[in-house]
Amino acid sequence: MKQIPYSFDLNQPDFIPSTYDNHIKRHLSAMKGQYLDQQAFDAMMNDDPLLYEVYELQRPTVEGELLHGISIVHPGKVGNEFNMTKGHFHEVLDTGEIYYCLKGHGYMVMETPEGEWAVEVLYPGRVLYVLPRWAHRSVNISLQEDLITFFVYPGDAGHDYGTIEQQGFRKLIIDKDGEPAIVDNPRWGVSETA
Ligand code: F6R
Ligand code: ZN
Repeated sequence: MKQIPYSFDLNQPDFIPSTYDNHIKRHLSAMKGQYLDQQAFDAMMNDDPLLYEVYELQRPTVEGELLHGISIVHPGKVGNEFNMTKGHFHEVLDTGEIYYCLKGHGYMVMETPEGEWAVEVLYPGRVLYVLPRWAHRSVNISLQEDLITFFVYPGDAGHDYGTIEQQGFRKLIIDKDGEPAIVDNPRWGVSETA
């Protein structure tokens, strides 16, 4: 881990950081219970495709540090739902996060434990502030291009994946006649993994 200030490049077309410490790959198998169409999910599990990747610069997970890196959601669908990240609350719920979209076209789906929800559009040059308390999931609404975002959040934030794994998000993003549509998740709150 670097002990002096540093800089790095995010170059087109892939925007992979010129230096990084971790490369995380998430396949379909990591998303059990999150996609509505269970049959489509099972059929695709033979190939277990790579859905998204994260490149991280490693920093101490303490207050005062900023964790940062690149998230790449590959294009595709499971049933009629667009490829997406697992999504999470931060373990320290009162933690915000900044996303800056570098490439592609996406939605950030967000919700609070109190039942509010929001969807913001991501496109190159767009900055998104995820407020403290808001769970967040990126969805790639293009079927051709990667959705690539730069993210930065406080070092002590931590991640709570379990809540989303158990209850899902209130809203799903589906392909409706070639257009992305925001629909209610009929299985919201119903545990698939328990
Ligand atoms: C970190 C953050 C992003 C995501 C990344 C992958 O707090 O929000 O770096 O971690 O987009 O998504 P998840 O972590 O939900 O698998
Ligand atoms: Zn986050």
